[in-house]
Amino acid sequence: MDILGIDIGGSGIKGALVNAETGEMQTERFRIPTPKSKKPKDMAKVVAKIVEHFDYKGPVGCGFPSIVKNGVCMSPGNLHKSWVGVNIDELFTKHTGHEFTVLNDADAAGYASMNYGIGKGENGLVIMVTIGTGLGSGAFFNGVLIPNFELGQIPYKKYKKIETWAAASAKEREELSFEKWSKRFNKFLKYVELIVSPDLIIVGGGTSKKWGEFSHNIDIETKVVKAELMNHAGIIGAAVACLREQHHGQLH
Ligand code: BGC
Repeated sequence: MDILGIDIGGSGIKGALVNAETGEMQTERFRIPTPKSKKPKDMAKVVAKIVEHFDYKGPVGCGFPSIVKNGVCMSPGNLHKSWVGVNIDELFTKHTGHEFTVLNDADAAGYASMNYGIGKGENGLVIMVTIGTGLGSGAFFNGVLIPNFELGQIPYKKYKKIETWAAASAKEREELSFEKWSKRFNKFLKYVELIVSPDLIIVGGGTSKKWGEFSHNIDIETKVVKAELMNHAGIIGAAVACLREQHHGQLH
């Protein structure tokens, strides 16, 4: 069954039709920059444009860059603070006429990797880390999602959250080389290792495309691999999550 998957990020909103049984993308990815205001209504309008682009009729799966509980946004992430408390499902349904399944973006990316990617069949604690505007994290124990892990929120030195210092947005803002930035990223991974003792860490998100430029600086005990679905994982995982919700009435 083809399902429209949408991945909402701090810099772009992307969608594609996905065969949610095989995890294959059926169309090119369509991307529109995230509106500068990062406010609910402006972003919902962009989501509607993405849905219209695909001339699609069914339910939509959507990864969203904040804590999401029962379709409600629970934290601002890197978006406008007015998102907190908004029922994202309802807002997007109102703007598009489609049914939505919304989950955290890193949880969605993890879903794709655990079902169709490098995480398939991996037991124990697997952490998906996405590098983008923020540092997202998705946790899976014996293949089952533990939703809304927020490892990018660990305070670090003068920063309220380590992602402000170690995400791709910090690299851009401070014009850091991959060499310099990846040492920060490795520091973040060290904390992750210390706090949750994972068995495997999968690195995804936009910056994972540049894996070759920074993986030599990843130096922790835990095995760290690149998500081979790279930045498509968010779209694919959102579609998979949507299909599961259609079948089971809940995410598994
Ligand atoms: C948010 C997370 C999100 C991550 C990646 C963080 O700022 O707190 O919920 O997964 O950014 O988008």
